[in-house]
Amino acid sequence: MKAPVRPVPAEEMHGKRAALAGSWEQQETEAERPGEVRARLPSHARALVAHIGNTPLLPLPSPNPAVRILGKAEWFNPGGSVKDRPAWWIVRGALSSGYLPQRELLDASSGNTAIAYAMLGAAIGFSVTLCVPANANPERKKTLKAYGATLVETDALEGSDGAILRARELAEEDPVRFWYADQYANAANPRAHEATTAAEIWDQTGGEVTHFVAGLGTTGTLVGASRRLRRLRPNIRIVGVEPARALHGIEGLKHLDTALRPAIWNESAVDRREQVRTEDAQAAARRLARDAGLLVGVSSGAVYAACRRLVREMDSGMVVTVLPDGGSRYLSEGWWAES
Ligand SMILES: Cc1ncc(COP(=O)(O)O)c(C=O)c1O
Repeated sequence: MKAPVRPVPAEEMHGKRAALAGSWEQQETEAERPGEVRARLPSHARALVAHIGNTPLLPLPSPNPAVRILGKAEWFNPGGSVKDRPAWWIVRGALSSGYLPQRELLDASSGNTAIAYAMLGAAIGFSVTLCVPANANPERKKTLKAYGATLVETDALEGSDGAILRARELAEEDPVRFWYADQYANAANPRAHEATTAAEIWDQTGGEVTHFVAGLGTTGTLVGASRRLRRLRPNIRIVGVEPARALHGIEGLKHLDTALRPAIWNESAVDRREQVRTEDAQAAARRLARDAGLLVGVSSGAVYAACRRLVREMDSGMVVTVLPDGGSRYLSEGWWAES
């Protein structure tokens, strides 16, 4: 029998979002005693989370021989994407403060964060409900069901914003049942990248990274990693990559000017924003598969396309990017076969 739970106070759930805008740096995360939380996990879950992060940094073909491009191969995470990192930090915080495992974790995600939560819920033993746009690709929906998560499908035409609005409604309707993780506002999201992704990049490049390129979705990867990298190298150039149009096919990325603005987003985290068209992202993903033997997802194609553009302008330096997931999650999409 589960212990009775108190509702999450509204200010904890929604005040945070408002108070947080652009200031996640000041926000305390609840994951203050990571060792303690880990020690309480079943041994199989402890072993699983120990494999999150420390992904390989792979050299990618560069059109400029004077400038290297390196990509963090995030599909090496146990849940198959970069999202294992923030999902674990978010879950760890909720376990530490006692919201989980008593409540059901609720969030909106078009796929990878959902899969990471579902994996963690199955391993650790808490229920997971995810608001997912109905047009999320079938591989993702099947994966979520395989992990035993509950899916709430939302209007395909409303995209990831529709899923966010539905998750907010559900959280308000039933605060006893749900704990709303809210990856778009949860400070543990950028903190995970500040503490792990950026630290790994610095170590793996021996401090030689001069440019950091990342896609903008929740914006956690970019704002978190850039915070640490700028501390380590104040003149590092930070490039945020987004789809060129509001309606696009780059899973995981947001057209920030027209989408709901993530509370953790801060425009000053980037030196430059690069827009990439869906066709160019897909072509770059095909290029990595065919020329480098790297089967990556379409957002990896987008950041790689932006890196290739960037290095053509440079005389020297080292460009590092994050390849958020592998291509096997997108194989039902027709563009792989194009030439
Ligand atoms: C495939 C993919 N690429 C890129 C991103 C963007 O990462 P972030 O949310 O850290 O901005 C996501 C986020 O869900 C993703 O799933």
